[in-house]
Amino acid sequence: IDQPQVLSEREVASIERQQTAMSAPKAKVAVLGAGGGIGQPLAMLMKMNPLVSDLSLYDVVGTPGVAADLAHIDTAAKVTCATGPEELSKALYGCHLVIIPAGVPRKPGMTRDDLFNINAGIVQGLCEGISKYCPKAWVAIISNPVNSTVPIAAEVFKKAGTYDAKKLLGVSKLDVCRAKAFWAELAGVIPAKVDVPVVGGHAGVTILPLLSQATPKVDLAKDKAKALMERIQNAGTEVVEAKAGKGSATLSMAYAAAEFGNSCLRAMAGESNITECAYIESNVTDLPFFATKVTLGPDGVQDVGSLGRLNELEQENLEALKAELRGSIQKGIDFVASGK
Ligand code: NAI
Repeated sequence: IDQPQVLSEREVASIERQQTAMSAPKAKVAVLGAGGGIGQPLAMLMKMNPLVSDLSLYDVVGTPGVAADLAHIDTAAKVTCATGPEELSKALYGCHLVIIPAGVPRKPGMTRDDLFNINAGIVQGLCEGISKYCPKAWVAIISNPVNSTVPIAAEVFKKAGTYDAKKLLGVSKLDVCRAKAFWAELAGVIPAKVDVPVVGGHAGVTILPLLSQATPKVDLAKDKAKALMERIQNAGTEVVEAKAGKGSATLSMAYAAAEFGNSCLRAMAGESNITECAYIESNVTDLPFFATKVTLGPDGVQDVGSLGRLNELEQENLEALKAELRGSIQKGIDFVASGK
């Protein structure tokens, strides 16, 4: 019988070092707009994510304070900060995932589209930087109006020759979080036991929760389902009004984006069966961009889920949302084409 090989202490230590290095987190994640209402709690949640090795914080103001503060949290992610366009290259270089909550939020009475004039240019500028300094990164866009800013990003990347549709994701997850929270209340279960697909876009009627596919099943009369659908569609406005001029959803959005970012990092690391709802380039409908459930793989979106069976209410809403969503997509495309 062969004697088992006995390793020296030095050999054991070397193997342990190698294993630690192999299992150590390797992802560099940037948050652009890190000084803001969403950016700060999102940066904190990413600092707590064990898959993040480097957390790069970028904003036009206020980044050093946020970075100094977060750097004292005793988790592995190394925090760096960069401020202003001249430091954007430093923020983005080597990034695997870039999350963008930069831009102005809504005030009461505003629609997401009212933000277009300011946020379109911000997203365009940041995406020009991404195409230069980390063209292979996954890009998750939070800045509103998402229905237009994602097409803007796509056009910028196409112009630069770096577009990879599988890696450009509009973050519509907050709509899913809201739908799950409200459905759980209705079904009398904890939200973790709930699934509600939300498709379409991320603004008003373009948000289409598929309550007929929600689990666990709850039989809802059409008027009750319509009321819940409208509550989900207007949930952002509920927060804007409650904050009375001090911005829109920040904490719930940071949570949603951190969960979404975590899914991206897990898929990147090779974990399978990671699904999320995201607003992406799509041929599920005749619209060029559409949010559906997607499966994420190591190189981005791997499979795009179908819409499944819609009931009458959902079918009506789908037809109603198309004109608005098509217009918002075109507005984004035209913005980049106009060279503003
Ligand atoms: P905020 O005003 O608190 O923060 C925005 C940050 O962006 C500020 O720190 C600002 O300095 C920074 N910024 C401005 N121009 C920049 C540039 N060129 N480069 C980098 N950073 C820049 O706003 P908040 O509440 O954090 O919202 C940010 C965006 O997220 C808004 O457009 C808002 O509408 C959107 N949003 C999206 C949601 C979604 O579900 N996708 C939900 C809630 C908000």
